[in-house]
Amino acid sequence: MRIILCGFGVVGQSLVKLFDSRSEDLYAKYGLKPRVVGVFDSKGSAVDKSGLNFNKLIDVKKKFGTVKNYADTQNSMSGIDMLKNIEADVLIETTASNYKDAEPGMTHITTAMKKGMHVISVNKGPLALAFPSLLELATYNQVMFKFSGTVGGGTPILDYAKNSLSGERITSFAGILNGTTNYILTNMGTGVSYEEALKDAKDKGYVEADETLDLDGLDAAAKLVILANWIMGMKVTLPDINCTGIRKVTLDDINKAAKKNSSIKLIASCNKELVVGPKEVSTDDPLCVNGTLNAIAFTSEHSGTQTIIGKGAGGMETASSILRDLLDIRQEIARD
Ligand code: HSE
Repeated sequence: MRIILCGFGVVGQSLVKLFDSRSEDLYAKYGLKPRVVGVFDSKGSAVDKSGLNFNKLIDVKKKFGTVKNYADTQNSMSGIDMLKNIEADVLIETTASNYKDAEPGMTHITTAMKKGMHVISVNKGPLALAFPSLLELATYNQVMFKFSGTVGGGTPILDYAKNSLSGERITSFAGILNGTTNYILTNMGTGVSYEEALKDAKDKGYVEADETLDLDGLDAAAKLVILANWIMGMKVTLPDINCTGIRKVTLDDINKAAKKNSSIKLIASCNKELVVGPKEVSTDDPLCVNGTLNAIAFTSEHSGTQTIIGKGAGGMETASSILRDLLDIRQEIARD
């Protein structure tokens, strides 16, 4: 399986480490031999036909902030040139989500699909803004498009709803889909001010580089778009979500909720309307998880409500979701 890896931050680096540590059992169990034939970031690329040395590549990225200096910089090509000129089976897109125009991820994904490459994306921007057309493009070009890490990171929320509940009609769902705001709200529940809780979350590295994505609910809304399209068969994009973040939640609101045995959580829900906003959740409700955890409750026609809980972010966790998608692609190819 020849792979072009786009973006070499925490997730990209975790992925190559995961490939390295799992190489024997991936081959023994699944016959999968992932081979990263090229890596690119916003400043340049690294290609090595005889196999990239990932430890060296990580050192180069740390030292120069780009993978470009890995080998012969004279030959460092742009990401788009790499996608067009280097033969590969799968693009793994891990650049940062952007909800204004979804670039550069959108161009990476569409270029790869048009070239006949399968695509795995953990970048939510292109899906939030153009999910329906990306699915059409994948179908038109007869390639697979996988994105299980976009919701819930390593926790298989999309797969659970799509596959484990496939015999059911899901009628509604609601969940905590953003770990950062859950961490902030959880800390505020212990009496810490919003400002202090935000600072703590930043110090721990939880908050996105663009903090508005977490705090104003955009990250949760993007995940809601992905769930609505994939699980409910809707054709919606980010502007269809009624979205409010957590900036206006006060300690007073949290204390009032606590008196009713409830906590305030940023809930993304699909029940007639698609809404993201702070809501009181009973502390007895399985959905009421704390810290950076994610949780989602799916209500279905015959099986009642089922809640899935897990870590929603993290380099290795997200890398494991990419590996899950890669194994899916490997198995689907093997079936053909
Ligand atoms: N900012 C996101 C979160 C990262 O806090 O959940 C994972 O998508």
